[in-house]
Amino acid sequence: MNPPSHSPRVDVPPRYVVVPAGDGSPTIRDTLLSETFHPELGMDQEIDRLLDQPEVAQMSFPSGQPRVFWDLGLGAGGMAAGILRHQAASPHDVHLHSFDVRWDAFDLACSSSLPHLSNLPTHTLRQNGSAAWQEGGSLRRWTLHLGDLPTLMEANPPGTFPSPDLIVVDLHSPESQPELWSLSFWRNLHHHCRSKPCLLLFHTRSTSVRATLLLAGFFVGLGRALGKKEETTLAATSPTGLTRPLNLTWLETLARSTQGQPLISPPYTRQPIDPGYLESIRLHPQFRP
Ligand SMILES: C[S@@+](CC[C@H](N)C(=O)[O-])C[C@H]1O[C@@H](n2cnc3c(N)ncnc32)[C@H](O)[C@@H]1O
Repeated sequence: MNPPSHSPRVDVPPRYVVVPAGDGSPTIRDTLLSETFHPELGMDQEIDRLLDQPEVAQMSFPSGQPRVFWDLGLGAGGMAAGILRHQAASPHDVHLHSFDVRWDAFDLACSSSLPHLSNLPTHTLRQNGSAAWQEGGSLRRWTLHLGDLPTLMEANPPGTFPSPDLIVVDLHSPESQPELWSLSFWRNLHHHCRSKPCLLLFHTRSTSVRATLLLAGFFVGLGRALGKKEETTLAATSPTGLTRPLNLTWLETLARSTQGQPLISPPYTRQPIDPGYLESIRLHPQFRP
């Protein structure tokens, strides 16, 4: 008689792990994509600095309405927690909409008791997909939209999700997640935020990403330095949202760049910008005298 056959046990290493960031604080690493969240400054400092920009301080919110924030890439909730911290003293209602395709990094951050999530109703958010609470007499509401962002933006008409005043974009790089950086995604996102002035904060300073955002209809400007990056990027639905808009000198840099080609659709190639795209960007109202 043959002995019973057992298939050998294969231990699959976890995709997300807790690792120290550059400042020693705990953060999360996606081992599949080899990307660490906020690797240099850590979970708290990075978002605090990103939000500490004159363009954010000068934002005018429609009166009598809740302030609406979109958090693109909930991940471990670092950016979301930072937005709530930033608004802690606000007497206005705050509606925070996080988007992600999976809960895994958030679950690990919760089970590891990462400090940025302490005092937040993470359990209710995880169970119900949303949580609401009072803070100093005004409402905080935090909602997670689970799904593929490009599909959510394309399949749902503008107005499906409350129109944002501020969007914090914290997605992995175009190299590791090309589908999140295509022109059609940014065009669809622009449609979702056209009904009122909206400001977007990015970590990147990539010329090709900036060219893509301009083609999508956004006004684009320089953002503050962040760690080793001497500048980041801001985008806005109106030129008044920016204090340092990209100018004609930047257009010349784009025209000369060997990697200025906008991210139209994957696979992307690093190459100089096609003359047709360059002409479209030249005609953008941002560059009109
Ligand atoms: C850099 S992490 C976000 C980190 C997070 N902002 C934080 O501070 O903890 C990027 C996130 O984008 C999410 N993501 C990746 N592809 C996505 C997609 N197609 N749609 C929505 N979210 C996606 C990932 O699951 C990941 O959690």
